[in-house]
Amino acid sequence: MPLIIVRNDITHMQVDAIVNAANPSLLGGGGVDGAIHRAAGPGLLAECRTLGGCRVGEAKLTGGYNLPSRYVIHTVGPVWQGGSRGEAQALAACYRNALQLAIARGFETVAFPLISAGVYGYPRAEAFQVATGTIQAFLQQQELHVYLVLFDRDSFVIGAQRYRDIAAYIDDCYAGAHSDPRAQQRRRAALLECAPAESAPLCAPSAASFPAAAAEPPAAAYPGLRAALRRLDESFTQMLLRKIDESGMTDAQCYKRANISRKLFSKIRSDPHYRPSKPTALAFAIALQLPLEETRSLLAKAGFALSHASVADIIVEYFISHGNYDILQINEALFAFDQSLLGC
Ligand code: APR
Repeated sequence: MPLIIVRNDITHMQVDAIVNAANPSLLGGGGVDGAIHRAAGPGLLAECRTLGGCRVGEAKLTGGYNLPSRYVIHTVGPVWQGGSRGEAQALAACYRNALQLAIARGFETVAFPLISAGVYGYPRAEAFQVATGTIQAFLQQQELHVYLVLFDRDSFVIGAQRYRDIAAYIDDCYAGAHSDPRAQQRRRAALLECAPAESAPLCAPSAASFPAAAAEPPAAAYPGLRAALRRLDESFTQMLLRKIDESGMTDAQCYKRANISRKLFSKIRSDPHYRPSKPTALAFAIALQLPLEETRSLLAKAGFALSHASVADIIVEYFISHGNYDILQINEALFAFDQSLLGC
């Protein structure tokens, strides 16, 4: 998953470089700047003194000192002045120049805070959109694992109306799966009918309970098995590659849109019987913009189903049923509801 949204303290991130939302002097301050300097120790300030400051949108590199990250990329975001003074372009330049510096230095992992969204007053939702849009556009051309580190709950950026809509949708679906007393009584009665005798231990059958392995090859022992195996359905990989071809996308366009790394996609493509994780299978369904039934079919190939017993599944179903296949918006919503994100 090349872009990962996490809730953390950026000074704890063990990555090649964390990005500091600094001020033009580079001599420290409050917010994330202060936290990074405190955690890095005096060596960071001493090196910053040699850099001669930093202009808005630029990026400069220092060592990480006592931080778990090896380096710090310092950048200076724009102060919010209402949005008509080029703030969005300046903010995008912060992310782009920091990413270019990371690639130039051969880094593989970088962590960003939400630049300008604190003291500099940039509205969080807009700051988040600029951050994710700029990073995602960069990752269309480059291979890098990028973390966007949200420090506290209130830095959550999903729109309030969408949050309410999704919460209502979850209540409708999730409640329906769990609160019908008659259904619950039927379920409980069915369970009681087939419950094992009191004394029977509830455990997996022991090896002794299986017939001794047949001497002949299994197919000879089970006539028709070989023929049945020849009629195996299309596998996950086969269906995925077929749907990519039908979509007209290249493989790279598809896995990048799915926020899946090239490495994982190569593993899937080279193994016709590869079994992906559920978030990975769902990420491809979203990237391919599959309608709900085809999403269910692709998931089934990987051995999964969309379930109304899963909040994450209901959220994905909400977006698909609303025709919204923007994986970043889906991940924002999953993050807002404390669910794991789509992608590998
Ligand atoms: N880890 C991750 N994110 C953090 C942390 C942390 N330890 N501390 C704060 N943040 C978040 C804030 O919640 C905010 O969303 O970083 C984002 C940026 O906030 P600021 O640190 O205030 O940075 P910015 O808005 O860019 O203002 C920069 O503030 O600290 C001074 O010297 C700095 O003058 C500069 C100005």
